[in-house]
Amino acid sequence: MNSFNFNEIIDRKGTNAIKTDALKERFGRDDLIPMWVADMDFASPPTVTQAIIERAKHGLFGYTFEGDEYYNAIINWTKNQHNWTIEKDWISFIPGIVKGIAFVLDCFTSKEDKVVIQPPVYHPFRIIPELHRREVVDNPLKLEAGQYRMDLENLKQVISPDCKVLILCNPHNPGGRVWTKQELSDIAEICYDNNILVISDEIHADLALQNHKHIPFASVSEKAAMNSITLMAPSKTFNIAGIVSSFSVIPNKDLREKFHAYLTKSELNHGDLFAYLAAQVAYETGEEWLKEAKEYLWQNICYVDDYLKKNIPQIKAIIPEASFLIWLDCKALNLSQEDLVSLFVNDAKLALNDGSMFGKEGEGFMRMNIGTPRSVIERAMDNLFKAVNK
Ligand SMILES: Cc1ncc(COP(=O)(O)O)c(C=O)c1O
Repeated sequence: MNSFNFNEIIDRKGTNAIKTDALKERFGRDDLIPMWVADMDFASPPTVTQAIIERAKHGLFGYTFEGDEYYNAIINWTKNQHNWTIEKDWISFIPGIVKGIAFVLDCFTSKEDKVVIQPPVYHPFRIIPELHRREVVDNPLKLEAGQYRMDLENLKQVISPDCKVLILCNPHNPGGRVWTKQELSDIAEICYDNNILVISDEIHADLALQNHKHIPFASVSEKAAMNSITLMAPSKTFNIAGIVSSFSVIPNKDLREKFHAYLTKSELNHGDLFAYLAAQVAYETGEEWLKEAKEYLWQNICYVDDYLKKNIPQIKAIIPEASFLIWLDCKALNLSQEDLVSLFVNDAKLALNDGSMFGKEGEGFMRMNIGTPRSVIERAMDNLFKAVNK
């Protein structure tokens, strides 16, 4: 028997949850099953909630600092979960991963510089550099035998001396790949040799599924360690994205000093007391919850895959190796992107992410968030079946 109840339906409406309360604004209607924004519909580990309640009961919320317990929790978690030994000095709080990406670009690049991304990929990887007036260079992933691979030969072709940063999604969103040591080492080699700093966004790291093992980019080689900024967070792992608590890890002293000075000059490296507390308690006590959550997610993925194979063979699930997002290949439906989105939204009454927001490589795809109770997924799949067969 499970100790945590992931089947429980918790009504998020009226909490300003983007997933439920921004439906009308984003999709034009609010009668949709929300399977888009990348958070889960599960209650966070009870130990985290309890710690927040206990602290709130104190009733006094003056200035605080992050104690050694916070750093130790991160250091121990990273060692135990990912076999990566990091030091306190390497770590700095940042107020979000996307903000962290923006800070790195601001700190290490200038307007003429270019930024490499590997689409289809989490859309801020393109939007943030472009808002900072950095040109984005695409090295599209290749979809081979139902899984994405990095195109390293193409990477060598598209990079130029103007390329100063590569943003790596490790594990990958939306494809769900947990990159292998070989793939990461190859990227490390190419980027080091070409003076391209790697931002490794590892927000989905803790959610590697089944026998897949996340490998921190900086742990694969000395070149990787010396030429990267890793961004991590407990936000996806324990469903606490609303309590912003992310951090950067930088083994290279020169990079670290430059980045930490950048953060310090605007006090960007200070979180609020609940951010430090939630992160610390989640890392200290959340392992069992995470284990059960991942097993539940895996069963949801299997359910969707099985349902599609049996009932809607025109839609194919790219099975994620990590996290709670399924990339659905809908190309066999032979619909324009507009009609595909309308099929999901207006016919099936489902709010998924339009694949094309992750790049033109995402056309013909939709991204489904399965971090929700099984009964919601069952309803969603039945809706989809009826819509496709209408
Ligand atoms: C790869 C990736 N990076 C970053 C984020 C967002 O992180 P944050 O809310 O800390 O900016 C997400 C959320 O979906 C994500 O998938």
